[in-house]
Amino acid sequence: GIMFREKIPIKGLAVTFNDVVLLPGKATLDPISIDTSTKVSRSVSINIPLVSSPMDTVTEDALAIALARLGGVGVIHRNMTINDEVNAVKAVKDASPYPVIPFSLNPLMSSEEAMAELRRLNLDTLPIVDEGRVIGYIRRSRLLTGGRLIELAEKPVMAPVGSSGDELVKIMRENGTDTVALVDKDNVFIGIASYYDLNYKPPFKPATDGEGRLIVGAAVSPFDVERAVKVSKYADFLVVDVAHVDNENALTALAKLVKETPVDVIVGNLGTYDGAVDAITRVDPIGGFRVGIASGSICSTGVVTGVAAPTLWAVAQVADAALDYGLGSTPIIADGGIREPGDVVKAMAAGAWAAMMGRVFAQATESPSPIIRVGNRLYKYYRGMASEGARARRFAMDRYAPKVKNIEEGVEGLVPYRGDLANIVREFVGGIQAALGYIGASNTAEARVKGRFMIVTESGRGEVEPHDLVLNI
Ligand code: XMP
Repeated sequence: GIMFREKIPIKGLAVTFNDVVLLPGKATLDPISIDTSTKVSRSVSINIPLVSSPMDTVTEDALAIALARLGGVGVIHRNMTINDEVNAVKAVKDASPYPVIPFSLNPLMSSEEAMAELRRLNLDTLPIVDEGRVIGYIRRSRLLTGGRLIELAEKPVMAPVGSSGDELVKIMRENGTDTVALVDKDNVFIGIASYYDLNYKPPFKPATDGEGRLIVGAAVSPFDVERAVKVSKYADFLVVDVAHVDNENALTALAKLVKETPVDVIVGNLGTYDGAVDAITRVDPIGGFRVGIASGSICSTGVVTGVAAPTLWAVAQVADAALDYGLGSTPIIADGGIREPGDVVKAMAAGAWAAMMGRVFAQATESPSPIIRVGNRLYKYYRGMASEGARARRFAMDRYAPKVKNIEEGVEGLVPYRGDLANIVREFVGGIQAALGYIGASNTAEARVKGRFMIVTESGRGEVEPHDLVLNI
């Protein structure tokens, strides 16, 4: 049967995000209460539908930790040794699901100094820590009288490292504090958790596994069983990382690889109905589909080779193949070319469960690339994994890495620096919730059913963008 392909009303036209608009539908909920949770693979759930690309200027442990804390998930790139990838994955699994910050007061501080510190950190309460022990707790109101810090202290507010965010919020409420001191099993102070970081309001609940640890994915090549076996000891799922998986050798290797790992393997990249059928008939089980060929912002495949399966169109193709072959509950990840929150919801309307982004996340502080100043503007370096720079790193690291192509299919460049990931993600998710609201969907699954497209004309596109204003005021 055809479901998703028919939604795109012109046959033979490989439409992209900007070629369509979503039609409004009857809204039943306020955007803020729309459920953004979804699955990234058959058995792994996340709370916001955003996945970061496995690219060496996008996802290492720092970004994966930050994204999972916000409810999404990062996929650690594979342009490093197996050992380094295992360690990056482990770092995410070992990280606390909320930030733990090493702020405390020293018993020798005067009350004025303590007050200045609390003001600087914008906190109401902090522990007093002496030689690694929490010896008391200070709140601003107690400092007003002046005097020795230790005489103004209250009893410590503490919890073991590894406590859940909900447990910490409960302790803070009981004690009327905005922080809790976290201590290890020997009662040594590790840092504080703050109420402001425990943003447990949906949808930004951390994406965690059954044991409360952050969720993380890891990229693998279909031919690297050793890597797959080693990283899947720790990673929640694997993501096959090749530009075009509908390839005889890749599918043969993959059919074996999926039998060797205990976790879901997301297969990609795929771009067509037939390609998806090839993967489905050769690889079992399939943990998810990674879809889109040549749409990435740093991608030059389409230019160099003339071959492309634009993400929106490709998603509809693969979604129908999955439905036709009984894999209707196997998640599809739209990958490449996503610029706006609305693009994520367009991808959902075409059959996707989540969106993978490289450029948008490269712009965050937490991405593993330097901030670069040009004039008085700040940028981050971002490159395709098939670019000259990324390929050079691969060959430097592993001189036996097989060279199967002699051309670059990716470019390197700068993207505007946008600050902390949390700001970027909150903005994006707000836009996704608003878009879901407009199309009358109360969750991501409904978006796949209720989302309807119209092709937009050139003049229509002009009209839906801000227009006819004097912009330079
Ligand atoms: P965005 O648009 O989010 O796309 O920056 C990220 C996706 O682009 C793919 N990718 C590449 N594609 N040559 C390509 O043809 C490359 O060098 C390259 N590097 C990454 C990848 O699917 C990623 O998630």
